Amino acid sequence: MRSAVFPGSFDPLTNGHLDLIRRGTRLFDRVIIAVLENEGKAPLFTVPERMELIRVCTRDMPNVDVQSFSGLLVDFMREIGSQVVVRGIRAISDYEYELQMALMNRELNADTETMFMMPAVEYTYVSSRLVKEVFRLGGDVARLVPQPVLLELRRRLPKA
Ligand code: PNS
Repeated sequence: MRSAVFPGSFDPLTNGHLDLIRRGTRLFDRVIIAVLENEGKAPLFTVPERMELIRVCTRDMPNVDVQSFSGLLVDFMREIGSQVVVRGIRAISDYEYELQMALMNRELNADTETMFMMPAVEYTYVSSRLVKEVFRLGGDVARLVPQPVLLELRRRLPKA
């Protein structure tokens, strides 16, 4: 059984993430979405809230599993017995950081392979950070995030 881990902050899940998750589910028997427990980033959503939103938005994908992790990604992957990391690359600017992470993960565990995937072209500029900023300032993000995420944003972030 081939599994892959899609790690990230997912604060919150965007349509770009969802697009990549869907692509991953076609290639792997099981895709584990691994939400990083990193309170240092002053997140908008707690880890359990982010996990619940991901669960709701991936309900139609039976081979998706949502988990959280802290510490090193390679340690989490050893624990669950997965060797493949899936990460999205939107533009060349993502590549340098992603390359560093991929090679560091390989340094830490030579069995780890990172697979880069491109999201659908309409999401190549979408990031969780920009979604939050635009929404806070009163911009329309309805096309950029799944409906449950949009509803949660509306509930907790009064528009400017
Ligand atoms: O969504 P993000 O914030 O770009 O995801 C970054 C993430 C979670 C993939 C990365 O920060 C990570 O794997 N953190 C866990 C700590 C770790 O293993 N660091 C060394 C690998 S470079």
